[in-house]
This record gives sequence, structure tokens and C-alpha cells, in this order.
Amino acid sequence: MNSNRVLEELARHQLVDGYPLVVDLERSEGVWIHDAASGQRYLDAFTCFASMPLGYNHPGMEDMEFLDTLKRSALCNISNADLYSQEMAHFVDTFATHATPEDFCHHFWIAGGGLAVENAMKAAFDWKARLLGRTNFADDVNDLVIVHFKEAFHGRTGYTMSVTNTLPDKVGLFPKFNWPRISNPKVEFDSDGAICNDIEAAEAQACAELDAVFAKGSPTHNRVAGILIEPMQGEGGDNHFRPEFMQKLRQYADEHQCLLLFDEVQTGFFGSGAPWFWQHLGVAPDIAAFGKKSQVCGIYAGPRMDEVEHNVFRRSSRINSTWGGNLVDMVRSRRYMEIIAEDNLCEHVLELGEHVIAGMRSIAASTGAFRNVRGVGSLIACSFDTPESRDHMVRELFNQNVIVLQCGDTAMRFRLPLVMTQSESDLLLNAVESVATKAAAV
Ligand SMILES: Cc1ncc(COP(=O)(O)O)c(C=O)c1O
Repeated sequence: MNSNRVLEELARHQLVDGYPLVVDLERSEGVWIHDAASGQRYLDAFTCFASMPLGYNHPGMEDMEFLDTLKRSALCNISNADLYSQEMAHFVDTFATHATPEDFCHHFWIAGGGLAVENAMKAAFDWKARLLGRTNFADDVNDLVIVHFKEAFHGRTGYTMSVTNTLPDKVGLFPKFNWPRISNPKVEFDSDGAICNDIEAAEAQACAELDAVFAKGSPTHNRVAGILIEPMQGEGGDNHFRPEFMQKLRQYADEHQCLLLFDEVQTGFFGSGAPWFWQHLGVAPDIAAFGKKSQVCGIYAGPRMDEVEHNVFRRSSRINSTWGGNLVDMVRSRRYMEIIAEDNLCEHVLELGEHVIAGMRSIAASTGAFRNVRGVGSLIACSFDTPESRDHMVRELFNQNVIVLQCGDTAMRFRLPLVMTQSESDLLLNAVESVATKAAAV
């Protein structure tokens, strides 16, 4: 197919509302996306919505053993949930030793981040129902709820739409469950990275709302199956929480017999310079959902699951899908983990993140174009005064062949490839500075 006809051909059959370029999978390299249609290249600070850890055509992906395994795995699409292979076992072992933190003995694999979160919620519902003695499949469990937060994005599947509330166009006009939604006590940072809002008051407000949900006499008393939160809310605005607040959530979950569920679909799998974002906060969940950069999506869960004998990780068919993830994704994920470890990319991306944050703070100070620069590792954001000024920045960057993302009402986020070099990140900073300087002059 001629690259100049790709968009037109697609548009004849489906909605084509993505980027106006045609990715050249052969010529794209590292942090550079080549447009097969125009021949131009774009600096990638969006990484397919935080889902490509190593950029394009990483030399480590040319490894012969890997390519042989990849080809073998791609020629037939087996149902991994029930038909096991050496290739799958190699991936599971690598994930369990490189990515899964200690003390999490249960894994479940599926395709799609929303379905990963959905299955974390299902695991929690089943666990809570059984704790309440409702073990007969005919028992009514419609009073169980998932506590979640404002500005949360957890996906667009059945259950996850009820806990997603970023933009109405994603969940409006679809029936949803009315589960408790709690204020999100997000941190704001000053120009030196210190907390500059009244975070204790914001956390007290959220805790008061949680107290009301768990209070005796409330319809949700002892009916909460899980507290679900992104350890850093991505789509909702790159909202950071204090470790103290996460610790509070841990306490609520322990005291009220519900599970703490972390959605690490966007933040997890080494993007923050640690395997999981929660490790920076020092508060562990009972179940974590992952996806995007891990290629294979799913959940890992800890020992509290086994407080209930027939939990979904022990009993057949309670959570399942035909393909149980995808073997090609498993093989690719395994190779990514090997390269991330071999090349010390966690250390690298932590340093890169510090460099980019320092650069962004300096641009903010000299131009006043944005504020509240925040982030860790490859996950970096800043906020503008208005949605229009944010949109202007994102648009102008694209016009300079730099791809970044919006989030929340007024924030811009970077999702950097873990392999980005400091000099490549300087190209990003230079582009931001040139747009910010022009905006300041208007
Ligand atoms: C935190 C979070 N959870 C879940 C999802 C849904 O993942 P997917 O689009 O793969 O279903 C996303 C996607 O952006 C996400 O950011």
C-alpha cells in the first residue's frame, strides 16, 4: 500500500482521528518516529500513550534467539490460559523475577489495560462476597462497591467505566454503577519541587469522605470490596499523592476488610525508574493491575487473597479469557525486561527524569508559561493556566515535530522512552522553550 494512501484508505472503512502521519516501522529508530508519508521524523515524547518502553527498533531486539522465538510464537495464536508452552513459562519466570515484587504469588494475564483493572475488581468482589459468607453462586452481591477517586481513569470496559471520570465523552450515555467517588488529594509543587498547596486539608477532606463510606449505618458499611487508585493519576492530570495518604488508604483497607487495588497500567513497568510506581511511595497494594509498557496486561496479587479459600486465583474459570494474554506479547515483554536489566535503564531513566524536570523548571521560571512541574523517571508533567494555553503548547510542539500528550484540564505530560539520551531530551526542552518564549512575548 502506498504510504500516501494509508489515511485515505483507512478513512473509507473506519474513524481516523489519530495523528496525521503514517509510521514507518522500518525506519523509525529509538526516540524518532519516521513518517512514511512525508519523510519527516518526529521526536517521540508520547511513546504510544506510555506503552513503548524502548522506542523503535532497539538493537537488543535483533537478538537471534529472541527473533526465532518471536516468529515461532507468531505463527499460531494459542490459548495461553489453558495450553502451556516453554515460551510462556520463560516469560512468566522473567516477569516474576524482574518485575513482580516479593510476596506477590498470584498472576493473571489478559490483553488490554482496562480488562486488567476489570479483573482486579472482579477478584476483589469475589473475595469480599466470600468473606461475607456469600459463597453460593446464586447469592445476591449487588450491594458490593468499589471506592474510587475523582479524576480517575481506569479504562472503558464495563466495570471500569463506573470508576472512570476524566472526560464525559468516554463514559457518558453508557449505563454505570453508582459507587462511592472520593476527592483526590493531589499535590501541587512549587518551582523548587516543594509541596505548595494545603495537602493536609485536602487529605483530611478525602478521609472524611472515606469515613462516611465505611461508617456504621451507611449503606456501604462492610460492603466495600476494594479501594481502587492509580498511584499517580495519569489521564486525569498527572496527579501525585503523598505517601502519607497512600498509607491511610492501606489502613482503611486493612481495618475495613477490603482490598487495596492499584492501577499501574500507565505508571508501572519501569516507567518511573522502579518496576512499580507504588515502590516510590512505600505502600504496597493487595492487587496491582498492569498493562501498556508490559505488553501483556494483567494483575499480580499478594497474600491477602488467600484469606479466602476459593479465591479467583485458586478456583478455575472465575477470571479467564481465551488467549490469556498473547504469546507474541509475552515474548516481546520478556526481551524488554532482559534489556531493561542489562542496560540499567531504571537508573538511566531516573537521571534522565531529573534532568528534564530541572530543565522544565528553569523554562517555567524564565518564561512563566507553565508551573507545577512534576514527575519521576519517564513520567513528567506541568500545568498551564488555561486549557487553551496548554493546547497551544501541545499543538505548536507537534508543528515542530515533537509529540507530547495532554492530560487533565490544563496539564501537559511527557511519556519518554526509557532509552532517551540526555541530548535527545535537550531537543525536547529546546522545543518547549521556543514555544514558551514566543507565548511569553505575545
Ligand atoms: C491508568 C490506566 N488504567 C487503565 C487504562 C486502560 O488501558 P487500555 O487502554 O489498554 O484498556 C489506561 C489507559 O490509558 C490507564 O492510563
